[in-house]
Amino acid sequence: MKLRIFPGHGLAGVCKVPGDKSISHRAALLGAIAHGSTDIVNFLQGADCRSTLGCLKALGVKIKESTEAVRVVGKGLGGLTEPLTVLDAGNSGTTIRLLLGILAGHDFFTVITGDDSLRRRPMARVIKPLKEMGAQIWGRANDSKAPLAVKGTSELTSITYTLPVASAQVKSAILLAGLYAQGTTQVTQPVPCRDHTERMLQAFGADVEVDGMTVRIKGGKDLHAQKVMVPGDISAASFLLVAGSVVPGSDILIRDVGINPTRTGILEVLDMMGAKIDVYNERTWNGEPVADLHVQPAGLKGIRIGGELIPRVIDEIPVIAVAASVAEGTTEISDAAELRVKETDRLKAITCELQKMGVAIEEKPDGLVIRGTGRIEKATVDSWGDHRMAMALAIAGLVASGETIINDTACIDVSFPDFQETLRGLGANLENWSDDETI
Ligand code: S3P
Repeated sequence: MKLRIFPGHGLAGVCKVPGDKSISHRAALLGAIAHGSTDIVNFLQGADCRSTLGCLKALGVKIKESTEAVRVVGKGLGGLTEPLTVLDAGNSGTTIRLLLGILAGHDFFTVITGDDSLRRRPMARVIKPLKEMGAQIWGRANDSKAPLAVKGTSELTSITYTLPVASAQVKSAILLAGLYAQGTTQVTQPVPCRDHTERMLQAFGADVEVDGMTVRIKGGKDLHAQKVMVPGDISAASFLLVAGSVVPGSDILIRDVGINPTRTGILEVLDMMGAKIDVYNERTWNGEPVADLHVQPAGLKGIRIGGELIPRVIDEIPVIAVAASVAEGTTEISDAAELRVKETDRLKAITCELQKMGVAIEEKPDGLVIRGTGRIEKATVDSWGDHRMAMALAIAGLVASGETIINDTACIDVSFPDFQETLRGLGANLENWSDDETI
């Protein structure tokens, strides 16, 4: 699939973004090990969250989908059953890493794998603590890459663990395994990273305590099914926030977006750059803050980003690079080496593709330097099979000097299946092309 984008007039209107990816995964996973049926409203129907549902079905969980909700019929804490076949996490790091935490507490054998990208991503960071807790896990590349084989145990030991990298997926896997361990499991993060697992575990009745950078969970406490309303994904909204900031004449209102403070780095970054974004109608859904976001164009300027802010904008760096290309002055991003182990090496990928669009962007070992000129040239670019790359490049295309073609855009379905339709609804001019059609 290819996407063809024509720059044009401003994007205007009221829209929504799909359900939050991180929260959708967690609602399905906790629902599966709770007592009772969990109804998930606004569940993200992207490929990543469908991978989680597929794995849970293979582990004996009944899932009923209707137009209103996804219903997950819980099996209780240790109630999953040995799968008959290999589990497929697709492109989803969250699926494989969080599920490993749950499988660690189940006394059966599982093999789990994923697509080419997922099989290249580091798994030792999650395998190490889970092995310390008593699970047996084997994998390719000296037990560090998928496919992984897991043999859990119903008698895990609690651990006290300091995360070497700020990763919400690793933190979550340990907390989930902590549900099955005797005593209290304690995880300390170097800087705050997304806390949806902690919040949702509390909502489901787990014994979780947050104490600064440390999270503690007591094992053995049953979870109780909930109705979960999934807020709109701020990572999906970030593409529209940048589009609304850089395309002249725009005026976009995005309703019901999750504004959990561990995720709102994009609002801080755009604010520092001089963007005009207003936050209205703040409320809480299942312990998660939600608001409506209104964006209008503004002249952006270059800034420096690094340190504690990075984990809170970890998925937004590609689209921030696009904003920086349009901004006046230099933007420097540092402390972001984690981007090299995402769906693709995002530092390398965004540098390579924005250079094709004439942007003065330079790759650093842990970041990027972008000298904004306000000008983006039309070009044919590649997504590297990475959904966030594809969408960031589409936003660049909206302000390019002419028609932009993006190759390999089927991956957008991973997190924002209605991306093209949403942009079109706001007035953008874009077309999908299948690979066998000639342009
Ligand atoms: C996620 C955590 C982040 C993020 C990913 C989703 C989660 O990954 O990049 O898209 O749902 O916990 P890391 O934990 O590897 O930083």
